[in-house]
Amino acid sequence: MRLSVSEGTVLGVFAGLVLWAAASTPDSRPSPDVDAREPKPEVLILSGNEKGFIRPCGCTKPALGGVHRRAEAVVALEASHSILGSISLGNLVVEGGRQQQLKFETFLLALSSVNASVLLPGPGEFLLGAEYLANEASKLASFPFLVSNVKLGEARPFAVNHRIEAPKITIWGLVPPMPEVAGVTVEPPLERLPALVAALPPQDRVIIGWGGLESEIAPWATGIPTELQARCLIVVGGTSDIPRWLEPVAGVKVLSLGSKGRDLVALTLGETWELITKRLAESMPGAPDVNAMLDGYRQAVKDEALAEQWPKTAVPEGYAGDQACRECHLEICEQLDKSGHMRAFATLVATNDEFDPECVRCHVVGFDHVGGYLSPTKTPTLVNVACEACHGPSEAHVQSQAKTPGGKVSPEFCVRCHDPDNSPKFDFKTYWPKIQHPKPTAADGTGK
Ligand code: HEC
Ligand code: HEC
Ligand code: HEC
Ligand code: HEC
Repeated sequence: MRLSVSEGTVLGVFAGLVLWAAASTPDSRPSPDVDAREPKPEVLILSGNEKGFIRPCGCTKPALGGVHRRAEAVVALEASHSILGSISLGNLVVEGGRQQQLKFETFLLALSSVNASVLLPGPGEFLLGAEYLANEASKLASFPFLVSNVKLGEARPFAVNHRIEAPKITIWGLVPPMPEVAGVTVEPPLERLPALVAALPPQDRVIIGWGGLESEIAPWATGIPTELQARCLIVVGGTSDIPRWLEPVAGVKVLSLGSKGRDLVALTLGETWELITKRLAESMPGAPDVNAMLDGYRQAVKDEALAEQWPKTAVPEGYAGDQACRECHLEICEQLDKSGHMRAFATLVATNDEFDPECVRCHVVGFDHVGGYLSPTKTPTLVNVACEACHGPSEAHVQSQAKTPGGKVSPEFCVRCHDPDNSPKFDFKTYWPKIQHPKPTAADGTGK
């Protein structure tokens, strides 16, 4: 980890700046014009709404974002700006389960390495389990977890506000009702606001992080007192990928962070809040310490054999593997060998992602099925998008040439893998001709 994080996070950031400055000065003599330099503009970093994208999958180019590139961009920003705090708005993950816990813990490490000040867990984090968040995950972070309107039983296990001393800013985190999360009481934001406002130090500006949708802001934003409106800012993850200002709601400015963590977002803290964004471009190698954390995550997913434990549904027959098709459909097999579909597994091996179920499921045969892909060693013949990925398990067909279970493969079938996230340019009319099977000839084993 690059920097250790102290309790007082603002102090921690300053310590980081000093360290950074020391590291970047070629010799230790004080430079004569240091004092004459303009003070660096003060900014607050905002992140969140990664929706599980701890790193981009690389399925579609350019592959933007990732915690490693975010950390690299924060270091670059420190050269020209004074970072007063760094707030993560949550919804780093959007579902529960062991892999999401491992991912969330890696997010926490990465946030710690860039001296995050506070995390506002959103509904996505609560799906990991409220007790887990309050008792286990929060201990792994170097910063507090803040949710202003949630109780566990009668207790409030999370901070209800976070304060930046200079300039004076108070941060609240509000979440919508979370009926699917056991054991928590979510106080309706409109009912909770008066108590938060009553405890607000006079003159403080307020940033409210909202864990719900843009469209759910209006019903509670009316509870922000008129005299506070101009000093208040609502930040929401948002549905758009790109960070941008939304229409003000009840006289309050609203900022959407964008999703999937593709940009670094910072706010200047002068008279007005100004938005600074930086694309986390594919050309950025990422901060080495955070790259190492991502490798640790990949290793943990492998060690826990999460791909093998993926829930499987039963299918009527087994998978034969594409070698079994060669005897009778040689020309089709030879053509497939040359296509990207038969490189799909090597693609994952190249980035050490071949044990990650979130990747493997579309880069192999029969991942969701009993008898389908399990691991490179247990099912070596079921790697890649081979014949039965499209035609279904075909053991019976190999034996007796019964109809293959997939029936006629339709364009709708392709989009199970070629979905908008992983193949946004997919169009059957342009994609199929690239991999279309050759017409069977006399040499073909089917006898045509
Ligand atoms: C929902 C299915 C799906 C998932 C999940 C998925 N991929 Fe892919 N991947 C695809 C498809 C489809 C393509 C081809 C996209 C295209 O060409 O339009 C692809 C292409 C790629 C490519 C580009 C290959 C090349 O050389 O052009 C890489 C790299 C890749 N995936 C890595 C990953 C990684 C890493 C993960 C997990 C983090 C992952 N994929 C998860 C479906 C998926
Ligand atoms: C022993 C020879 C043989 C083997 C092995 C074989 N096939 Fe076939 N396959 C045939 C014959 C014969 C047909 C019928 C050809 C026709 O009518 O055009 C056929 C037709 C098909 C069809 C089109 C009709 C349908 O049932 O949907 C598909 C798809 C197919 N085979 C896939 C496969 C796959 C996948 C494998 C490997 C798992 C495989 N075949 C292995 C002989 C074989
Ligand atoms: C099981 C998941 C899966 C299914 C189903 C699937 N694909 Fe793919 N496809 C992939 C992956 C993964 C890649 C990227 C492979 C790589 O380069 O790593 C890909 C790549 C491609 C490519 C680019 C590779 C090349 O050789 O040019 C084309 C074209 C393509 N798919 C067409 C299709 C069509 C058409 C269908 C439906 C008939 C289909 N795919 C069904 C997963 C799938
Ligand atoms: C990416 C999905 C995909 C993969 C992988 C795939 N096929 Fe097909 N296959 C199709 C589609 C789609 C059709 C229907 C073709 C059409 O409508 O023109 C088809 C048709 C066929 C047919 C019927 C005869 C024909 O040419 O129309 C046979 C036989 C066949 N496939 C065998 C295979 C074999 C053997 C493999 C593995 C070497 C394989 N397929 C891999 C999508 C796939």
